[in-house]
Order: sequence, then C-alpha cells, then structure tokens
Amino acid sequence: MSEPTRAVKVWDLPVRLFHWLLVALFLFSLLSGKMKGNWMEWHMYSGFAILALVIFRILWGFAGSTHARFSSFLAGPGACLRFAKRLLSKAPAYVAGHNPIGGWMVIILLLSLLLQAGTGLFANDDISIEGPLYKFVSKEMSDRLTAIHYYNFNVMVFFVFTHVAAVVFHVFVKKENLVSAMFTGTRNLDAATEVPAARFASSWLALILFALALVAVYLVVKRPF
Ligand code: HEM
Repeated sequence: MSEPTRAVKVWDLPVRLFHWLLVALFLFSLLSGKMKGNWMEWHMYSGFAILALVIFRILWGFAGSTHARFSSFLAGPGACLRFAKRLLSKAPAYVAGHNPIGGWMVIILLLSLLLQAGTGLFANDDISIEGPLYKFVSKEMSDRLTAIHYYNFNVMVFFVFTHVAAVVFHVFVKKENLVSAMFTGTRNLDAATEVPAARFASSWLALILFALALVAVYLVVKRPF
C-alpha cells in the first residue's frame, strides 16, 4: 500500500461543525428519549435543533463548498461497485471527498434524521408530551407517526452503527484517518488520487443558511402567526 503523500483541504468549517454538533445532539436525543420524564422537553428541543441542522445541511448540499455538494459525491451504481472492489482489494481507496458508497450513506443518514425529527413533531406519549404539530392530525395519525418515530429510531441506530463501522474500517484496514479529517478539514491523500479543483464557500453564507433553517423550524414549532 503506498503512503499518503500530500495534505488536501476537503471539509469546510460548516461541514465539520455540522457533523460534531449532530453527533452530540444525536447522543443527547438518544439518552433524553430513553430517560423520559422531564427529559422529554429537552428531547424535543434537541430534535428541533437536529431538524435545523439537517435543513441547513441540505441547503449546504446545493450552495456549499465543492466537497459538501450532493452533485460532487452522489455516484451511480457502476462507480459504487468499482469503489467496493477497491475497498476489498489491497489497493488504497483514497477519495478527496465522500467516496461513492459513503456519499449514499450521507443521504440515508440525512433522510432518516429528517424522518425522525419530522415524525417527532406530530408524536405523543399518551401521557403528557405532545409534539408541537400534534393538534393538526387525528389521534390515530399521531399514534401511527409515533410508531414510525420509535421504529425509525432502531433503523437509524443501525445506520449510525454501519457508518461508524465503515469509518473504523477505513482507519484500521485502509489506514486512512477519516476522523482526524473531520476535525481538521484536511485529508492525507496518496499521489495517485485525483483531486478535483475545489471551491470553498463563505462561512458567512453558511451562517445565513443556518439562521434561515432555525427561523423555518421556529415558525413550524411556535407558529407565531
Ligand atoms: C463518534 C462517532 C462518529 C464518527 C467517528 C464519525 C465520523 C465521520 C467521518 C470521518 C465522516 C466523513 C466520512 C468521509 O470521509 O466520507 C462522517 C460523515 C458524516 N457523519 Fe459521522 N461519525 C460519527 C457519528 C455520526 C452520527 C451519530 C451521525 C448521525 C446521527 C453521523 C452522521 C454523519 C453525516 C451526515 C456525515 C456526512 C457529513 C457531511 O457531508 O456533512 N455521524 N462521520
């Protein structure tokens, strides 16, 4: 296996902040949801924050830096298959941004988080907790959405487990430290890896998009009008 020879900036600050905030909120939601009681109120706030983060990430997927854009990492089945073969071979599997398979995992994670936060808005616990949009649906519909909220939680845990297992595989088997790249933004790539010219979008634009996402969630949750 050839050694990595150059450091290339791939992840902008907004992607890195998004990721680690998401991890913290995901863990907090998981624990507060399990603890129930007074923690349920915090569970809801954490869900609203995750919703805002995911809306931001979707906007950033269209307007953000090159490697954050969906168009830069969504690949067809041929590219995924070729990459899978490389992964299973002894050859290095460096890619500047998300690899073709990892790119689809990003989409799956974002969609399952969206489904989780979205169904939570309509959920009820049959005792004292109701999502902010509970009153806009029938009790039966709320119960069904609550069931999806519970079921999708397990599905999501499975996806997150797979995601973390894939990262561990890259770190220990392919000797590529993706985790430090998610902290520093810089990835070590071997000389053979093609590095497309990347454009880095302004963090101010990210802040504006995140503020818009927060306002959208506030309007849905509080409905001030
Ligand atoms: C400690 C546990 C975790 C570690 C070490 C980790 C690590 C990473 C790494 C290294 C990447 C970049 C992958 C690449 O280079 O293509 C990544 C991306 C991502 N991870 Fe995690 N992750 C963790 C937990 C989670 C959790 C709990 C979630 C969601 C609930 C999550 C969601 C994502 C998403 C959505 C991306 C794509 C980032 C983007 O493009 O904006 N991760 N993760």
